[in-house]
Amino acid sequence: MADVTLEKVGKTYGNHRIISDFSVTIQDGECFTFLGPSGCGKTVILRLIAGFERLTDGRIFIGDQLVSDAQDNIHLPPEARKIGMVFQDYAVWPHKSVYENIVYPLHMQKIEAAEAKKRTLAAIHLVNLIGLETRMPFQLSGGQQQRVALARALVSRPRVMLLDEPLSNLDANLREEMRFEITTLQKQTGVTILYVTHDQEVALAISDRLAVMDKAGRIRQIGPPDDIYEKPIDPFVFKFMGISNFIPLEYRNGQVFIRESDALLGCPVPHGCLDRLQSHELIAGCRPYDIELIHQEGHGQGTIQRVIYLGATIDYRVAVGGKILRVQQDVRDAGQGGIPFRAGDPVGLKFRDLKWFENRGADAEGES
Ligand SMILES: Nc1ncnc2c1ncn2[C@@H]1O[C@H](COP(=O)(O)OP(=O)(O)OP(=O)(O)O)[C@@H](O)[C@H]1O
Ligand SMILES: [Mg+2]
Repeated sequence: MADVTLEKVGKTYGNHRIISDFSVTIQDGECFTFLGPSGCGKTVILRLIAGFERLTDGRIFIGDQLVSDAQDNIHLPPEARKIGMVFQDYAVWPHKSVYENIVYPLHMQKIEAAEAKKRTLAAIHLVNLIGLETRMPFQLSGGQQQRVALARALVSRPRVMLLDEPLSNLDANLREEMRFEITTLQKQTGVTILYVTHDQEVALAISDRLAVMDKAGRIRQIGPPDDIYEKPIDPFVFKFMGISNFIPLEYRNGQVFIRESDALLGCPVPHGCLDRLQSHELIAGCRPYDIELIHQEGHGQGTIQRVIYLGATIDYRVAVGGKILRVQQDVRDAGQGGIPFRAGDPVGLKFRDLKWFENRGADAEGES
């Protein structure tokens, strides 16, 4: 197995620059995810690592092997890189059976028949397709086809597996099952996995570490899932990791209010930051479940605008000043009396966990 190192990698198509100065090292045996919005360059990066595309700048190493170097015009072809790849649409060959799909790469490599059979059966076992060897793809569910694609990528014993949104076509239950199978598979084989997705839930669930990319193809933050979720480095990362509220604040009469409202924040502001609050250089963020709603008679701090019952949670939109905040409440905390707030109700707000960010305007969109 192997580390993968990208050193100052750049890629342009004509005049269109997709990636610049992109550097990261993925450790041997790690499950590493590139998480970013559609079009940010995730597939391009995987194709560069796999060798389907040439670099415009920089170098790529797999283990100790230099596989791409723009300056010295080094470019190892894909078949020499010992990489397995599952593409975004995970295409399996429709006219080949499960067994034939999986054995195919070994035939291409002219592996001796008995050895090819042994390895194919081992791969079928690994992805839990035993008994389905003779089925054709149209006789398989989406998740089973997905496993065929995984086994086909694994059968050549790659050093590195590149998985490009392999779960995007599956329903929620299957996605969860496959997520689990991918991590199990990795533990069993020790293969280094590079996973690409725009789904933050998948990224949190399967990664040892993940890199959050913005629309411009830059890495904003790298870290283990809990760090990225709990300690986002900027508003963009915070926003990308889940439903978020950004709360504009102002300092009046010795107290901090939600801007253009008489809703008191009721939470401490970082020491010495009141000036920066006033000049909008600092902004607070919180998740929907970090706001508690309190019954208020008459004139509330805010007004419930919309209530949506989601089963386990209730989702509210609350108007405060000129701002709409998203609030979510666990149904069990909502009390015995059913949905405790209705549209039009006045409410008080209590903030539990605020995160403080430098407010750089367009930064939250990743456009800058
Ligand atoms: N062969 C190509 N020629 C020109 N432009 C390309 C080529 N391949 C990709 N691009 C452009 O590069 C950018 C990044 O594309 P890429 O496919 O890597 O996005 P992505 O992050 O994988 O998005 P998604 O999440 O939608 O799959 C896009 O603007 C795309 O149009
Ligand atoms: Mg893509």
